Formats: sequence, structure tokens, C-alpha cells
Amino acid sequence: MLKEVTATRYVTPLREGGSLPGLVEADDLGLYVLKFTGAGQGRKTLVAEVVCGELARRLGLRVPGLAAVELDVLLGLGEPDSQVQELLKASGGTNLGMDFLSGALGFDPLAFPVSSEEAGRIVWFDALVNNVDRSWRNPNLLVHRGDLWLVDHGATMIWQHNWPTAETSAARPYDASDHVLAPFGPDVAAAAAELAPLVTADLLAEVTAEIPDVWLADEPGFDTPDALRHAYAAPLLARAAVIHDRIKGTE
Ligand SMILES: Nc1ncnc2c1ncn2[C@@H]1O[C@H](COP(=O)(O)OP(=O)(O)O)[C@@H](O)[C@H]1O
Ligand SMILES: [Mg+2]
Repeated sequence: MLKEVTATRYVTPLREGGSLPGLVEADDLGLYVLKFTGAGQGRKTLVAEVVCGELARRLGLRVPGLAAVELDVLLGLGEPDSQVQELLKASGGTNLGMDFLSGALGFDPLAFPVSSEEAGRIVWFDALVNNVDRSWRNPNLLVHRGDLWLVDHGATMIWQHNWPTAETSAARPYDASDHVLAPFGPDVAAAAAELAPLVTADLLAEVTAEIPDVWLADEPGFDTPDALRHAYAAPLLARAAVIHDRIKGTE
């Protein structure tokens, strides 16, 4: 399970993000970027953040630490912005927090050089989880203390939105032509050789165990949260072995 904290103060909205994530302080005095369970896409976006974030970190990529953040709807009462107030009111209970990287800047491909090794690891990972949200228009990469950090994995694993067709959907190739790191000559073959063997059933069981039960309950077709955890793991296990041969647009 993720670390659990309780939100004590809503600090400010992060206006750049489409999903209106907010900055909150929690009872451990940490500052977290909060992704709300009541936001547009709902809890599946949060599950995707946990699966991808925890998997990426175990593969040696940099992602902010994650936490389950309990939110009392009373926190929204004093909010002057009605959109923020609605979001807080709809998000009582467990939300997703990410360690706030203070002073981080958005990645600018013209200003920050990336090695073909690092580009390869990130493109391979995005192909594995089918991330469509790392384009030059919207890189979702931050530069923090001279390093690249990965954020925003809500729009991954498209197959989670239709489980009966998940196997077919997950067998599709990955189109990297729009990927912000495509121009850096990503060495996907080297990344696959290094990372694919690490993506084992045991590792994926460890990763999916981090998902809070409340985001997995009552999914049609699944009797238990663990059955759904397995459904998240299976396509990733299958893709890890083959996806490097099915990446288009990086040549
Ligand atoms: N952990 C973090 N630390 C600092 N800034 C962050 C962090 N996570 C996100 N941000 C900033 O907030 C923006 C929106 O977050 P993101 O996860 O991309 O949400 P959205 O789904 O709304 O696009 C990011 O583009 C980035 O500028
Ligand atoms: Mg984003």
C-alpha cells in the first residue's frame, strides 16, 4: 500500500494541468500535487498513476514519490473559486498525492539535451504502458535539479477502459512519432534489453499491490480488488517481452 497521509490545507490550484490538480499540505508537513478522485476521468486515472509511477520507479526512472491522501470535504468550504470548491466537494476520501518538486521547470527539448540511452528508456517505458501524453505539445516531463522527472501517467493503459477487449487492445503497436524524445535518437533496443527482463510477474504483483482497494472495488466483471490487480498486470507482462519490436516513428 502507498504511504497514507491526510490533507490539512489546500494551497493553490496548478493551472497548467488539464485535470486541475492542486497543491495541498498534509499532516506529515509534506507538500503534494493532488490528483482528485472527483476529477473528470475519475479513479481509473489515479490507478494508472499508481501502476505507472510505481513501475517506472522500480525500473530506475525518476518519478515523484506517491501517497494516498485522505481529504475531508470540509477543506473545500473556504475556497473562493467555485470550480475548485466543486472538485474538493466531489473528492472526499482517498486521493492521489505526488511529492511536489519545488522549483521544477517544464522540459524544453530545445534547452535540455537528453542522451539516446535515457530517451530510449523513457520511450520504451511509455510504449510499455501505452502513454499517449508525452508529446512535444504536452511533454509531462519536468527538469528538477538538473534531472528529468516523469509526471502525469493518467492517460496510459487505454485497455483499462474496456476490460473485455483488453488483450486485443494491448497487443497493438505504439506510435512514438509524436513523442517529445523521438528526436533524441532513443536507443530503444538497449532499453528493452536492460528493462524488459525486470518486468516480471512478481514485480507487477508488487506494483499493483500499491493500488488502494477503494479505487478497485465494484469494477464490473471482477469479484475482488486482487482480480482487477491481476488484470492490470497481465497486459504489461505480455507487452514487456515484445513491445520494442512494435514501436513506430522513432527511426
Ligand atoms: N510532482 C510535481 N512537482 C511539481 N510540479 C508538478 C508535479 N506534478 C505535476 N506538476 C506540474 O503540474 C502540471 C499538471 O500536472 P499533470 O500531472 O501533468 O496533470 P494534468 O493531468 O492535469 O495534465 C504539470 O505539467 C507540472 O507543471
Ligand atoms: Mg499533464
